[in-house]
Amino acid sequence: MISPILTVPEAGASPGAPLVDALEGGAVLVFPSLDFPLDAFEQRFVERPFADGKAKNVNIRGEAATLKGAAGTEEEQARLRDLLIRYRAFARDLIERHLPAYAGKVSFAGTSYRPFDVDQRKLSWRRDDTRLHVDAFPSNPIGEKRILRIFRNINPNGQSRLWRVGEDFGSMAEKFLPRLPGYSPLSARLLSALRITKARRSEYDHLMLHLHDALKQDMTYQGSAPQADVEFAPGQTWVTFSDLVMHGAMGGRYMLEQTAYLAVADQVDPERSPQRILARKLGRPLQ
Ligand SMILES: [Fe+2]
Repeated sequence: MISPILTVPEAGASPGAPLVDALEGGAVLVFPSLDFPLDAFEQRFVERPFADGKAKNVNIRGEAATLKGAAGTEEEQARLRDLLIRYRAFARDLIERHLPAYAGKVSFAGTSYRPFDVDQRKLSWRRDDTRLHVDAFPSNPIGEKRILRIFRNINPNGQSRLWRVGEDFGSMAEKFLPRLPGYSPLSARLLSALRITKARRSEYDHLMLHLHDALKQDMTYQGSAPQADVEFAPGQTWVTFSDLVMHGAMGGRYMLEQTAYLAVADQVDPERSPQRILARKLGRPLQ
């Protein structure tokens, strides 16, 4: 089954429970026209990139919300930081209103401003996000957390953000799990001791990193796996579990993105997490 794209009507009361059910089942929720206006000063952030160009994105992290990767005058950078802080509040409000089961349970990680076109340069296959993948962070073990992402297209010229989505996580895992190398608790402890990882890499983290790589390296799978093209028009906001939904970013520029973490135990149905799906496929709990 290909990940469903579900458009959420914004008028009236949000149907809460059915939305969470769809989201946990691997849907992408699309909100066509939530209000998030840019003021006159902020228009410049969608006219040219205010980025130092060293990283793919500009972002803020944590309570201090230190701005990283930005360019522009001191005032411009302060205003860009304000914009990202406002977007984080917008994402929190979206969760409280439309996904009330998660209200107060998610923790907000990075907020990013993505002014550049999806990178069509020939990057290393591992960094090539046009290839279908699920998200996994090499230096930042996730353990028993889920990755929930809230994206918004802020392109001023009518340019859509282009994605493709792939088949459901379980079907993908069945094909790829037999190819993955075994997990070594010893090397996980070593990576953490050497501070290559910020915490101990669990077996789940190990599997997700190898899935991410195996998927991106398999060009036959990339070309022939079940998939569908999706367009997100300017003004649209979309929400998905990017650790569960197979996706590739194919084009578009000027986007805002909020990453949030949710404990598996705080899902309405933890059994639908990639953590539990992988354990079931392996027939044992993960280490
Ligand atoms: Fe991704």
